[in-house]
Amino acid sequence: MAPYAIAHLKIGLKLTETGYRFASKERARVYLTNSLEPCSTSQQVFADWFPALAAESQEVNEVKISKKFTVIFGNPPYSKSLTSNAWINGLLDDFKRGINEKKSDLTREEWKFLRIAIWHIERSTVGVMSYVVNNAFLSAPTHRQLRKFFIDSNDQVYILDLHGDANKGETAPDGSEDKNVFDIKQGVCVFAATKNSRAEPSAHPRTVRHQDMFGSRATKYDKLGWLSVGHPNAGFETRTVDEPWCFLYRRDINEDSPYPNWFAINAIFVNSNTGIQTKNDDLFVSHTRNTLDARMKRVLDEIDDNEAVIRREFELSDSAGWKVSRLKGLHFDAEKNIAFLYKPFDIRRIYFEPSALGRARVTTMRHMLRENIALVATRQFTRLPFGHVFVSRFPIEEKTGSHDRTTQLFPLFLYGDGLEDLFCSAEPIPAIAATFISVLAAALGLEYSPQFDRTVVEGQLSPFDVFSTSTRFSIRLFTVNDMVPS
Ligand SMILES: C[S@@+](CC[C@H](N)C(=O)[O-])C[C@H]1O[C@@H](n2cnc3c(N)ncnc32)[C@H](O)[C@@H]1O
Repeated sequence: MAPYAIAHLKIGLKLTETGYRFASKERARVYLTNSLEPCSTSQQVFADWFPALAAESQEVNEVKISKKFTVIFGNPPYSKSLTSNAWINGLLDDFKRGINEKKSDLTREEWKFLRIAIWHIERSTVGVMSYVVNNAFLSAPTHRQLRKFFIDSNDQVYILDLHGDANKGETAPDGSEDKNVFDIKQGVCVFAATKNSRAEPSAHPRTVRHQDMFGSRATKYDKLGWLSVGHPNAGFETRTVDEPWCFLYRRDINEDSPYPNWFAINAIFVNSNTGIQTKNDDLFVSHTRNTLDARMKRVLDEIDDNEAVIRREFELSDSAGWKVSRLKGLHFDAEKNIAFLYKPFDIRRIYFEPSALGRARVTTMRHMLRENIALVATRQFTRLPFGHVFVSRFPIEEKTGSHDRTTQLFPLFLYGDGLEDLFCSAEPIPAIAATFISVLAAALGLEYSPQFDRTVVEGQLSPFDVFSTSTRFSIRLFTVNDMVPS
């Protein structure tokens, strides 16, 4: 409310300074509204209680229904999802179409603001948009459809990557300091686009104008002070945007490399997931079996009758994504105390009760409860050198392969998928794609034998051989292009 009132005041004063006088019913056309809501039907509620808000709401509705915008700019909130309604959720589906991701943060408020910019410009048929916004979408693999949608929806796209990501400890390429333009940790960029639906569609490949800006805050502010896209020293470079990833950051790629043509890791292993997020490691994880047994026995056996005592003794409280009530009605079972790869070479114990854990990733971790082996890899990494690949015999924790990026697990065998009893004895089935096996077997002149057997048999290729061959020689993390310092 305060920024709204101040905007009216400042615009009023500025216009008065220029000699402009408002007509009797005229007002500055600054409106108080949630930009991510469609026109509303709640004026009647306001009318009874807050007549001033009802009048504002009525005017906003008229704007939302009948006005078209050709210029959209701003600094949208950097926030997890706050607004949810059928209109914006429907529009956001365009960023999710076909990506087939288990996990993404595509519902954040800033992506919704990106989406409504396109919506407004398409409605007006011509327009220009510019945001200073979280730069994560330029490189995140899960945001590829957002990028593609944006490039396809606009004629010209400009990206001024202002970097300054303190979460990644970002520095300039020469190792000197790189500061954020705001007092925040998340890196940012200026993202601008224009569209003219009446112009002939371009026959050229997808391109964007891009430049990186590194350095101190003062250097960045100085350049931002004079930079415009038409300036002779603007420094934007034209870059081609390649499908399927449509990355919008600068990557130095060896065009002759055979790497992008090899199988992606998720085309080799048919099952994968990020590691377990307990939401309460102090409770569910321990260095020793006995400590964990004693703790979980006490908590699970007593929480139903003595909740207050157990809460106090084990410092249990509800948090985002986890509630103490998840522990209720459960019974201690020593079989659920299992080995757990917490960090490389750091094997601990976890109490694997999927309904009690924050995110048990049970569709993948269930296959690690029996004899198995799995590849551990991160999809993104923060800093070179790249060393984010590992192997595990046990379920893994979410950050096993990297201190700050989620880690994925690719089991070699699957056990009884879909069975109710997690700890049942089912036959192991290799989890390697047939297409990959046939290419590999043909290349090596071997015959594939899908046995769960580590013995090396001459002329045969077992799942274990495929695993060691894949992990030793052919690791391609999604594509070379996705090896994104994110
Ligand atoms: C990052 S701040 C930018 C503030 C100001 N524009 C600036 O650049 O300093 C984001 C602003 O968006 C406003 N905001 C957040 N969600 C909004 C929504 N759904 N509709 C309209 N404004 C919203 C917040 O109140 C906040 O003022």
